Amino acid sequence: MIGFLGGTGPQGRGLGLRFALAGYSVMLGSRSAERAEAQAAGIKILARGADVRGGANEEVAAESEVCFIALPYEGQRPTLESLTGQLEGKLVVNCVNALALDGGPHLLNVEAGSSAEECRQLLPGARVTAAFHTVSAPKLLDPDSALEGDVPVCGDDPADREAVVRLANVIGGLRGVHAGPLRHSRTLEAMTALIISINTLYRTSAGVRFTGIDGEDNRADGS
Ligand SMILES: NC(=O)c1ccc[n+]([C@@H]2O[C@H](COP(=O)([O-])OP(=O)(O)OC[C@H]3O[C@@H](n4cnc5c(N)ncnc54)[C@H](OP(=O)(O)O)[C@@H]3O)[C@@H](O)[C@H]2O)c1
Repeated sequence: MIGFLGGTGPQGRGLGLRFALAGYSVMLGSRSAERAEAQAAGIKILARGADVRGGANEEVAAESEVCFIALPYEGQRPTLESLTGQLEGKLVVNCVNALALDGGPHLLNVEAGSSAEECRQLLPGARVTAAFHTVSAPKLLDPDSALEGDVPVCGDDPADREAVVRLANVIGGLRGVHAGPLRHSRTLEAMTALIISINTLYRTSAGVRFTGIDGEDNRADGS
């Protein structure tokens, strides 16, 4: 089961929809189980009756095999501090951008280096990766919208990274790309600020695409 902490927001619902359409069981989490159940019911309809449920963040963390962190940066620390036990040993995918939008998108100062690195500090027993920072939630949420682009995946364990690359590959139009250690998630968050700026200037939903990476299953030889 793929779970989403903060799953009632556009990013959690959008990724949840796409994974549900790809055949995965999905659980959306919230501070309010009722709110999560209501949002999950809407996504279940869009996903043509697939297995989509809602629940409190604690329940989602406990039941997930793979747990996405789809919280705003300010919600990450207070939420994760109470979930270390539930997330012990789990594969965690952090898509949090520590950004502020006032005066144009810019990075917030995160002492750990990035949201994902802070997440690793908060969840020392979890297998933390970082991905999906630059994928547009409104596009994910529209099942008729064709997605395109790359999903750079950061993580210190190549096997965990590979698992997330494969997850990205199940979403039609997206391609997971190995992007090296978790510290590179700083660049992913900075790149997101750049992309939001480009999208504002061009009134579009641009993403990222890396050239020169070929091969059907896009395996990276180096670690
Ligand atoms: N939106 C995008 O296009 C996009 C794209 C890529 C990455 N991201 C990243 O993905 C993350 C989620 O984005 P989003 O737009 O879905 O976020 P969001 O709507 O602002 O928040 C997601 C959910 O988090 C919960 N939440 C809000 N404030 C909280 C707090 N202080 N403490 C605990 N929970 C809180 C809320 O759920 P409940 O009230 O139900 O608990 C909310 O529905 C962000 O870090 C964002 O940078 C977003």
